Amino acid sequence: MLRRGRSKKLRVLLTRTLQDFAVKELQRHYKIEIHSGPFPMPKKKLLLKIKEQDGLICFPYDNIDKEVIQAGTKLKTISAFSVGYDQIDSKYAKKRKIKIGYTPNVLTVATADLTITLILDLLRRVTEGDRLIREGKWKEVFGADTYVGEEVDGKTLGILGFGRIGKAVAKKAQTFGIKVIYHNRNRLPLRQEKALRVRFATLNELFSKSDIVSIHVPYSAETHELVNKSLIKRMKKRAYLVNTARGKIIKERDLIFALKRKIIAGAALDVFYHEPIGKNHQFAKMQNVVLSPHIGSSSIVTRAKMAEITVENLKLGLAGKKPIYSV
Ligand code: DGY
Repeated sequence: MLRRGRSKKLRVLLTRTLQDFAVKELQRHYKIEIHSGPFPMPKKKLLLKIKEQDGLICFPYDNIDKEVIQAGTKLKTISAFSVGYDQIDSKYAKKRKIKIGYTPNVLTVATADLTITLILDLLRRVTEGDRLIREGKWKEVFGADTYVGEEVDGKTLGILGFGRIGKAVAKKAQTFGIKVIYHNRNRLPLRQEKALRVRFATLNELFSKSDIVSIHVPYSAETHELVNKSLIKRMKKRAYLVNTARGKIIKERDLIFALKRKIIAGAALDVFYHEPIGKNHQFAKMQNVVLSPHIGSSSIVTRAKMAEITVENLKLGLAGKKPIYSV
């Protein structure tokens, strides 16, 4: 760890807090400042605070843009508590030779688990049934066609983005008898496709052939509102859309329209254009939509690993070394 002079500790700003063990570890090495509260630090405050920081720990939904990085004249390392790093202007940070760490790998299992959970929930209408009971609307005893949903066995899952998480979802889905097709910027070698029992599809084909489409691409200028009406209208009438990646990959207005008009059967969403959403959001009013509050990586084990790596990435960066996971 680098120290300024003999006793002055380097300064680190956290835009949200971390688990106690991680905060204690940071305090042992650095002078830290933590922004508290449920929302990202207001830009004005961030611009002011960043001036004196050597390191920054940030979260999804911060906005570490060029202006913020420019204001951080002493900034040497940015460590993101997330696999996505779209909240950082990484191109500009790199120009400034600022090291950037993030937390891939450790959240693959948790995010894939949630994706499968959402698919099963959506098709078997579990949350819908839960809502029904809580609202006192379960008035009908077991009958031949009460609350019937769909089985996943034999369905085709189209995975958009076949990186670590996409592949993990494919593997888990196959154990339920689901067939997997995928679309990715780079197609896998045939041998690998065979070993993974998956088939490549063009983007249009993925949307038209799948019973369920699940999104696993990172958010970027290229994927901004990639899933809009022109793709959604290709989907089968009985198809479902699942998103555990980033909200802005879907053009929300187009999805709402498609769900209302029954152009597709339903959706399960863990991420949204603007988070958090409230009970008055259009999605919250639809019975054919399952919602979760951005919990892809929210398991105790995974979140602890993410904190560990976030701290380690920061320490390495501030020591002039390459973070464990470096952008
Ligand atoms: C990430 O790490 O990018 C996820 O969105 C957090 O669940």
